[in-house]
Amino acid sequence: MTHTVVVPGSFDPVTLGHLDVIARAAALFDEVVVAVGVNASKRRLFSAEERMDLLRRACADLPSVRVAGFEGLVTGFCAEIGAQAIVKGLRTAQDYEYELPMAHMNTRLTGVTTLFLPTSPEHAFVSSSLVKEVAAFGGDTSAFLPAFVHEALVARLAERSAGGGS
Ligand code: PNS
Repeated sequence: MTHTVVVPGSFDPVTLGHLDVIARAAALFDEVVVAVGVNASKRRLFSAEERMDLLRRACADLPSVRVAGFEGLVTGFCAEIGAQAIVKGLRTAQDYEYELPMAHMNTRLTGVTTLFLPTSPEHAFVSSSLVKEVAAFGGDTSAFLPAFVHEALVARLAERSAGGGS
C-alpha cells in the first residue's frame, strides 16, 4: 500500500520552515502532496499559481513530493487523492492549540488523521506572515527563504510600493 500524506497550507510564500517539514514528511512516507489552499476570498501577496510555482522549484530535489492546489475543505482533497493523513508542522504551543481542533474536526468529518511534526528549532520562529512584515519594512529575510523565493518577495514588495498598493 502506498502511503500518501498531504501537507496543506497557504505558502504565501514558502519558507525554509515549510521545506523542513515537507522534507521530513518525504523521508517518512511514499508520497507527499503539498496542497496549496486556493481560497479566492483571502488576500495574498502571491497568486495561487505563483505560490505553487515557487513550491515546485523549492521541492525540485524531492522526487516523491508533488504540489497541487485545492479549493474547499482539506478533507475533501485528501479523500479525492486517497491520502491517509495530513501532516502539519508545529512551531509553538500556540500552533498546537490552533491546529488541534482542526485535526479533530477533520477526523470527525472523514476519518483522516493529522500527524504533527515539530519544526526544527532553527525555524521555530519563521512564518510567511512574519517574513513578509520584516521584508516590507526593509529587513533582510534571506536567511529564512530559498534564494529565488527571497528574490521574488523583494521584487513583489518593490512592485507593490512602486504601484502605491499595500
Ligand atoms: O498556512 P495556513 O494559512 O495555516 O494554511 C491554512 C490552510 C489552507 C491549511 C487551511 O486554511 C485549510 O485547510 N483550509 C481549507 C478549509 C478547511 O479544510 N479548513 C479546516 C476545517 S477544520
